[in-house]
Amino acid sequence: MENKIKVAIVGTGTISNHHIQSYLKNPNVELYAFCDLDEAKVKMMAERYGVSRTYTDEETMLKELPEIDAVSVCVWTSAHMPCTVMALNYGKHVLCEKPMATSAEEGRIMKEAADKAGKLLMIGFVRRHGNDTAIFKDFQEQDYFGDIYWAKAQYIRRNGNPGGWFGEKARSGGGPLIDLGVHVIDLTRYMLGNPKPVSVYGATFQKLFDRRNLKTPKAYVSSSHTDHDICDVEDAATAMIRYDNGAVVQVEVSFSLNVEKESGVIELFGTKGGAKIDPELKLISEANGYMTDTTLKARTAMDMNVIFQNEINHFVDCITKGTPCKAPAEDGIILMEILDAIFESARTGHEVQLG
Ligand SMILES: NC(=O)c1ccc[n+]([C@@H]2O[C@H](COP(=O)([O-])OP(=O)(O)OC[C@H]3O[C@@H](n4cnc5c(N)ncnc54)[C@H](O)[C@@H]3O)[C@@H](O)[C@H]2O)c1
Repeated sequence: MENKIKVAIVGTGTISNHHIQSYLKNPNVELYAFCDLDEAKVKMMAERYGVSRTYTDEETMLKELPEIDAVSVCVWTSAHMPCTVMALNYGKHVLCEKPMATSAEEGRIMKEAADKAGKLLMIGFVRRHGNDTAIFKDFQEQDYFGDIYWAKAQYIRRNGNPGGWFGEKARSGGGPLIDLGVHVIDLTRYMLGNPKPVSVYGATFQKLFDRRNLKTPKAYVSSSHTDHDICDVEDAATAMIRYDNGAVVQVEVSFSLNVEKESGVIELFGTKGGAKIDPELKLISEANGYMTDTTLKARTAMDMNVIFQNEINHFVDCITKGTPCKAPAEDGIILMEILDAIFESARTGHEVQLG
């Protein structure tokens, strides 16, 4: 018990379950305390996972439990910055869920707090820890793809506004672009080797809203959903991002769209080969003068349990072993700069230059 790091969870809603279950499986962690504004929820979660210390105010928890080493911030997005900065100011390492914040400006404030405290701030870019991503990287390291110059990042839902704070701009910072786009934009950027964005052109659409009157099928709903939710975010977005290495990424995301099939296809096109994740990883290239498609015998579809366990294990290794962080605050800020620029381009109708 002595060598285990003590971890607290701030925000015990839906996603915290993945963090908690993964911490419970890590032998170097003691799950120590839970905090949520909603007292009934935090008590229910504490009972579910056998945690005895519960709080409804983060600062009270940090004051009363100075022995906490690290915090997972799993609150809604507008609370990422204040909750993360608070934990860092109390000298804790932080794993903050994606998106890093509601803007790059907030992200910079968070990184400054981490630098000042000399503590780790890792961003929950969970797809960087995917089993599919690891296999892709393995092939990439052997130069299977050559120079990747074009990619497509897609995350399309048909009737998938989760309601609750997800649809309310003041708490979410935006709709599918910031909620779903962040996953696929970050994943493609990571696969491209984290190039710097130089320009962005984007469009957002607010036409269908949350389609709450649809009889069937009902949309996926968040645990914060109520009958009187506000919906003032875009319901779909598209963008083109140009990076300093010449690569271009096309983005397509939606909560609500009159599209036949929901999909989340990632495609990358290189000079020697390409890759498609849908949801299995397919490798596309040439062999002996023939065009070839290769599927692997290994499990290549993203597995939610595997990716969160990998992410939590990595966070713990960064703290306990000094392992270099795969998803540092710098990358969170760059992603927020891209998202800010897409919203700005959508607003003005013009390309936005970055950097
Ligand atoms: N990595 C992923 O795949 C993934 C998936 C879903 C959600 N998320 C992210 O996780 C975060 C939470 O999403 P969720 O679906 O769990 O939402 P949720 O609504 O289920 O839970 C959020 C919780 O945070 C609590 N909260 C808000 N402000 C707080 C504060 N200041 N102090 C303490 N508690 C506070 C709320 O009471 C609520 O219980 C979001 O940032 C979301 O983008 C990530």
